[in-house]
Amino acid sequence: MLAAVSQTADHVPRNRSAWDRWAAGYAAAGARNWAAAEPSWGIWDIPEAQAGVLPPDLNDRDSIELGCGTGYVSAWLARRGARPAGLDNSAAQLATARALQDQFGLRTPMACRPPTACGALTSACTALNGPTMSQWNSISATAT
Ligand SMILES: C[S@@+](CC[C@H](N)C(=O)[O-])C[C@H]1O[C@@H](n2cnc3c(N)ncnc32)[C@H](O)[C@@H]1O
Repeated sequence: MLAAVSQTADHVPRNRSAWDRWAAGYAAAGARNWAAAEPSWGIWDIPEAQAGVLPPDLNDRDSIELGCGTGYVSAWLARRGARPAGLDNSAAQLATARALQDQFGLRTPMACRPPTACGALTSACTALNGPTMSQWNSISATAT
């Protein structure tokens, strides 16, 4: 079934238009997460101190956040010394992310498409819909 879905020609624009419609509903949570001093994860908001999701040293790490939405994970990374870039399929989600970047005075690159030459990444993360904690660690380990 997954193969059938991924082979549809219009899944990317349909996904984008769905997330463009839903984006307004994510703005308030995005603002709360941007304002949070400490990261918390997943649908149960498990604090970083308990979950230990982030690599201990993010200083100078070139990182990519896949499906960055409102961009708060990138903000958490940047505040810990990383150089994050965010990718998201939804222009409306990225518009919220950029508004929050302006509000919090922290600009990092965000785009709908990756640059043609990505260069070397030292970490990658995704927090799609309540991440499992292992996602970060396994991606981070392979991208280092
Ligand atoms: C549930 S939101 C999560 C956003 C953010 N990571 C968070 O934790 O709040 C999922 C995000 O992934 C984006 N997305 C979904 N499919 C995508 C794809 N194929 N490529 C890039 N972004 C995608 C959506 O536009 C949306 O912003």
